[in-house]
Amino acid sequence: MRMYDLILKKRDGGELSAAEIDFLIRGYVAGAIPDYQVAAWLMAVYFRGMSFREMAALTSAMAESGEACDLSAIPGIKVDKHSTGGVGDKTTLVLAPLVAACGVPVAKMSGRGLGHTGGTIDKLESIPGFRTDLNLEEIVSQVREVGLAVVAQTGNLTPADRLLYALRDVTATVDSIPLIASSVMSKKIASGADAILLDVKTGRGAFMQNEEDARSLARAMVQIGRRHGRRTVAVVTGMDEPLGRAVGNALEVREAIAVLAGEDPPLDLHDLCRRLAGHMVLLGGRADSLDAAWEQVDAALASGAALEILRAWVRAQGGNPAVVDNPDLLPTASFRQEVTAAAAGFVHAIDARAIGRAALILGAGRTVKGEAIDPAVGVVLYRKVGEWVEPGTVLATIHHNGKGAAQALALVREAYVLAPAPVAPGALVRAVVTEEDL
Ligand code: URA
Repeated sequence: MRMYDLILKKRDGGELSAAEIDFLIRGYVAGAIPDYQVAAWLMAVYFRGMSFREMAALTSAMAESGEACDLSAIPGIKVDKHSTGGVGDKTTLVLAPLVAACGVPVAKMSGRGLGHTGGTIDKLESIPGFRTDLNLEEIVSQVREVGLAVVAQTGNLTPADRLLYALRDVTATVDSIPLIASSVMSKKIASGADAILLDVKTGRGAFMQNEEDARSLARAMVQIGRRHGRRTVAVVTGMDEPLGRAVGNALEVREAIAVLAGEDPPLDLHDLCRRLAGHMVLLGGRADSLDAAWEQVDAALASGAALEILRAWVRAQGGNPAVVDNPDLLPTASFRQEVTAAAAGFVHAIDARAIGRAALILGAGRTVKGEAIDPAVGVVLYRKVGEWVEPGTVLATIHHNGKGAAQALALVREAYVLAPAPVAPGALVRAVVTEEDL
């Protein structure tokens, strides 16, 4: 087999066999196939696409390129969840304890934030003492005892994806649906869960800004899951305005605690977590229907069972569980500045990307891998899309430690679009794709 022939085949619109894709991935990881040939193949894929069979083969080859997690020692159907990334997306912090309280074991690997979207690991690490570097043995024993573990993805998981992603990043081939679908699913499959729930975000603050592209990505990932024998459901959800009110690590942990404690009036965040949790409970075989699953989820919230699991989870991973009852123990920024409305009107839009950038500038995120972040800083939104405001109403508060405040303030001010006519927020759930829909 020659890499040249595989590039040619894809360039001319052909379908690569599983053996050819395996040859390509193995050769690339071993250093036998050079970057320039893989780059040419990536560009051919970008223009020619891939069949579902090719995507499944690429996913397998990448999943098998490193160490896979064997979670078989954990009883029950393990359900993983993945979000394609959004602004203020702290759903994992709510969902993991919530579905664990419904009896679904969760062993999840998460990433750190890069760019305008945050990472679950950074959020969790804002809890004093919280460890995310558990090994497989620790993960298995913690899930058996507490019901859940969320840990940082290690470098040994899917090294082929890491190499390919770095090459895609510099060859303008990141935004290819087959490549994204295979990349995401290779990590999920190597992580060892039996079933997978995907939250595919669409809108201004999302990776997939166009809804039709988000649906195509959802279908591709569900197809890949099916071909790997992992039950997979994808929910396409809106990400035009930030999710919930808080954007920034410790601020998001505080908001997630409030949702689990039933403190905040139900908002988009609560609604989305409830919807996604229901799908996870159903995938985990703990209910016969979505309605029955949602009933369980509501009961776990109302009884305080989910909050109790959160305490146990934080304690098990070395964090201070007292933050659950006293969130003031979380890191807090030294300064706050308000953004107020200049005129009256309904909030028509809050540009999620601009709010994400504001949080990044304050130090809540990183522009290059490995950069230090400030866990305390960020933005809290007091008004959401559809709400009426008077001149002088506080729209948002910036929490900062002296870095980037003026620029962040201007971004938040510009992110709010006010207009006289009433408006309803966009639908939160745009589509649900299951194996039966394919
Ligand atoms: N996230 C991933 O994990 N992979 C991609 O290719 C894009 C986003």
